[in-house]
Amino acid sequence: MSFELKEFLGRFRKDSFKNLLKSEQSVLGVDIGSSSIKIVQLRKEKERAILETYGEVFTGPYGGMEIGQPVKLNAGKTAEAIKDVLKEAGAKATVARVAIPLNSSFVKVIQLPVSAEGDLENVITIEARRHVPVPISEVSLDWWVMPKTEKEKEENNKTIEVMLVAIHNDVINTYKDIIAKSGLTAAAYEMEPFGMIRSAIGRGSSTIAVIDFGASSTKMAILDYGIMRESRFISKGSHDLTRALSQSTGVDLARAEELKRRVGLSDLPEHKEIMEVMQPILSYIFHEANASLKNFQSKYKRSVSKIVFTGGGALLKGIASFGVKEFTIEVDLADPFSKTEHPVFLSNVLREIGLSFSVALGLALGEL
Ligand SMILES: Nc1ncnc2c1ncn2[C@@H]1O[C@H](COP(=O)(O)OP(=O)(O)OP(=O)(O)O)[C@@H](O)[C@H]1O
Ligand SMILES: [Mg+2]
Repeated sequence: MSFELKEFLGRFRKDSFKNLLKSEQSVLGVDIGSSSIKIVQLRKEKERAILETYGEVFTGPYGGMEIGQPVKLNAGKTAEAIKDVLKEAGAKATVARVAIPLNSSFVKVIQLPVSAEGDLENVITIEARRHVPVPISEVSLDWWVMPKTEKEKEENNKTIEVMLVAIHNDVINTYKDIIAKSGLTAAAYEMEPFGMIRSAIGRGSSTIAVIDFGASSTKMAILDYGIMRESRFISKGSHDLTRALSQSTGVDLARAEELKRRVGLSDLPEHKEIMEVMQPILSYIFHEANASLKNFQSKYKRSVSKIVFTGGGALLKGIASFGVKEFTIEVDLADPFSKTEHPVFLSNVLREIGLSFSVALGLALGEL
């Protein structure tokens, strides 16, 4: 697909891997989220993605925390959780594409003169030193020359845009360790927005944004005809709503979580206090997201026509209409599993739970 960062972390990708992967072999998408690990197993059959199995495991209990609480586990504990969810889901595939969190990645679109195209590797390595905030020797660099838009072609633009991605070697080594300990083989590591985009948008969508409401953070990407132009990491997520509700009402986290899910965003007078607790957090997230939309608009001189919400936090009742009010743009909820073939009787369940699986599903799709 056009938005895939094809060479991403190419140094770690076994180039011959696709050859090893028989056309009908199953693949896993693995998303190690802050509150839960999600896995999806797909198989390709005559150009269709067949859903074989999926599963989710809450990570909190592996770190002595409650179910649903975000936790940072070490590699051993993370691998233990991955093995448990694979077993629980009956997933037998061993080839995985694995998400690297957006906040562990440095992403920037840089502009270079067309003349740089002949010696891109050298030019980018030199340029990266100016942009990447840590020594280049400590990171793995990758880049992707972004295709020109029709307008840029017409204007015969003399610059090229390159998406620069840098990931700290420590992060990559940690992920490699986790995957090895889980008994899996990584076919590729990919930044989480690429996974969420692949499963959240349809073909031919013009300029749209995707927002992933996670437990501890919100991730956003803006795309033009499937090509990611901007990404943003917002350091608040749906668990911040739960924590604030727990603190303000004095109930424990589990009850606050239940309250959040049951009431959602409500206009009813009896829910006024709950709304007053959640509103400032949501406003912060939406304000940050809006800043990205504005930046995009002033840089590219066109606006986003639709926003797709995804991530478990997008299950919050009323969040889509809240989004429409905040952004004054059409808002849709993603339906990631609609990209797969699955038994009809599962459709309703998959539509309901699908939002949490968008990254894992998008990763697996990318490996087919
Ligand atoms: N029905 C619901 N209503 C409201 N919120 C919900 C609902 N179901 C799940 N959530 C919230 O979704 C969040 C988990 O979403 P998700 O699984 O996408 O997060 P994550 O991937 O673990 O976190 P992150 O992306 O920040 O690392 C939790 O905070 C949970 O409270
Ligand atoms: Mg997530």
